[in-house]
Amino acid sequence: MTESSDGAPRSAAADRASGAPGELCSPGADAGEKPILELRHVDKSFGPVQALSQVSLQVARGQATGLLGDNGAGKTVMIKTVSGMWPPDSGEILWNGRPIHIHTPRDAAALGITTVYQDLALCDNLDIVQNMFLGREALRLGSLDEVTMERAARRTLESLAVTTVRSIRQPVSSLSGGQRQSVAVARAVMIESKLVIMDEPTAALGVAQTRVVLDLIRRLVGQGVSVLMVSHNLNDVFAVADRLAILHLGHLVATGPASEFDPQVAVDFMTTGRSARARPGIAAPREA
Ligand SMILES: Nc1ncnc2c1ncn2[C@@H]1O[C@H](COP(=O)(O)OP(=O)(O)OP(=O)(O)O)[C@@H](O)[C@H]1O
Ligand SMILES: [Mg+2]
Repeated sequence: MTESSDGAPRSAAADRASGAPGELCSPGADAGEKPILELRHVDKSFGPVQALSQVSLQVARGQATGLLGDNGAGKTVMIKTVSGMWPPDSGEILWNGRPIHIHTPRDAAALGITTVYQDLALCDNLDIVQNMFLGREALRLGSLDEVTMERAARRTLESLAVTTVRSIRQPVSSLSGGQRQSVAVARAVMIESKLVIMDEPTAALGVAQTRVVLDLIRRLVGQGVSVLMVSHNLNDVFAVADRLAILHLGHLVATGPASEFDPQVAVDFMTTGRSARARPGIAAPREA
């Protein structure tokens, strides 16, 4: 994240467009490519509460999309819908351009969708290696292949520049919030996820830890993984997102390249569902 001369945060996309040094490229982001995930006219209600109303959203391949919205806007309901927690009431979900049904988290995992929830991500009593291989342990001659798992875990953490953990055999209960998020992201990389969804990954983190996790998200994108990051924090979203999508009271009200938004415009959309200051083209067409 950098600041422009007037002190306003600039988007990661704007930095990359201006050739700012040290940024990673986003492979596979050609304009002609199909989105990795697409929602078309998705509705989801809980009794009288319409949590999602005719949401149509494209999640770009190989890019980071920031999903913004005020409390109760429908962000978590949306990511749970694509993570297989419940089906939409109506509408379509497309994966690589093909309509699919995601009935369970297992269906989502089979597609390559990994959701990193803030607190559910890891088992406290297990160490880093055990967490990274939970449910898909490497076996050799009928017993756990600890050497292979340790080597793979270490390689992945190094590839993501996670260097602050003292031992990959320490229980995750002894890690800081940022280190825990790092391990959760590394686990998503090891599973060879195609789309990593993160719900408020920096909500509980301090400044330095937030920086580590945001860098990690950019590295993930640099490795070709698509990311959908839910956050309240505009600075964090502008630091990593190539594209933004904004929900207001269950409606998708704006979407487009992050460079087309500034924080004030994003706040307008988050709080009122519209913005008189927005450039043309980013307000989503309102559907019935
Ligand atoms: N399991 C549920 N049962 C009933 N209503 C729900 C359920 N989950 C969400 N809702 C409702 O759906 C709406 C959207 O909730 P959601 O959790 O998606 O908001 P959010 O955008 O994630 O907000 P926050 O920023 O506070 O996390 C809210 O009105 C909420 O009360
Ligand atoms: Mg939420």
